[in-house]
Amino acid sequence: MSTIFSGIQPSGTLSIGNYIGAMKHFVELQNDHNCYFCIVDEHAITVPQDRLKLRQNIRSLAALYLAAGIDHEKATLFIQSEVSAHTQMGWILQSISYIGELERMTQFKDKSNGKEAVSAALLTYPPLMAADILLYNTDIVPVGDDQKQHLELTRNLAQRFNNKFNDIFTVPDISMPEVGARIMSLQDPLKKMSKSDDNEKAFISMLDEPKKIEKKIKSAVTDSEGIVKFDKENKPGIANLMTILASCTDKSVKDVEADFEGVGYGEFKAAVAESVINVLAPIQQRYNDLINSEKLDDILDDGANRAARVANKNLAKAKKAIGLGRVKK
Ligand code: AQP
Repeated sequence: MSTIFSGIQPSGTLSIGNYIGAMKHFVELQNDHNCYFCIVDEHAITVPQDRLKLRQNIRSLAALYLAAGIDHEKATLFIQSEVSAHTQMGWILQSISYIGELERMTQFKDKSNGKEAVSAALLTYPPLMAADILLYNTDIVPVGDDQKQHLELTRNLAQRFNNKFNDIFTVPDISMPEVGARIMSLQDPLKKMSKSDDNEKAFISMLDEPKKIEKKIKSAVTDSEGIVKFDKENKPGIANLMTILASCTDKSVKDVEADFEGVGYGEFKAAVAESVINVLAPIQQRYNDLINSEKLDDILDDGANRAARVANKNLAKAKKAIGLGRVKK
């Protein structure tokens, strides 16, 4: 059975983009793969976070994973900072990363652009992400389109380490969804939808109430043509809403186009909102049952123990290969 690792940052409440591009697929994958799903809180602190909000987001993300359908008996769900092998392996991988290649990462450029105080961790976060993945002998990493470059770096670092020291890392493959790998902002359909966007109207949070979802989709930027047609280049707003509707109803974009031929934007947007509400309502109900439960803590404790057992073994191999520590006499 092949192994899957994927992480999500607790940098806000998940957006429908995170759900469609990542979480929805995790739920399908857990049935026939050995899965590790991680709340990557150490990645979240690469940009400033409010202490209390971060804590809340970590717990909330854990509950959302389970509410969306992750089964802790099939998959290992854990918090990155509770398995210390991650930062240790991250340091080892930093030592074989080049500053030049890290500076070329688009996400680093985007997140540091125009900022005065940029943390060193924002630059060195890709080797930590590589550590997350390589610690578990991961074969496949399911991610949205924005993480492709980081995954390529992970593969390079694994190969570099294997060639230079010892062949210990599995070189992972990337897996991206055919539909919904990049859900766009509702306010600027040329920009990726992000849960930490300053403009709340730009994204739908997985915990938004139905009225709010309707309002946000109603005010989504489209065009003046009035035709529901999938044309990413000339009609990015409509194409984005069609992708959301297709993903939420498990239809193809072509079927959505056929269904809405001759239908106006008002009616189309109402259907998009309804599809999102239908997907999120049961998730929100399960979330409310879980968020303050002890069960959630038990699952996370068990997940951290299970993850640490595998991660510590691989960390020990990497330390030995690179010459850290000592050999006892
Ligand atoms: N807009 C998106 N469309 C499809 N997939 C997406 N993902 C993120 N945004 C979209 C995928 O969700 C997973 C978790 O991402 P993350 O939280 O670790 O970091 P991110 O990619 O930086 O996501 P955000 O929402 O944009 O977070 P912030 O605002 O904190 O930077 C990944 O698999 C990602 O590809």
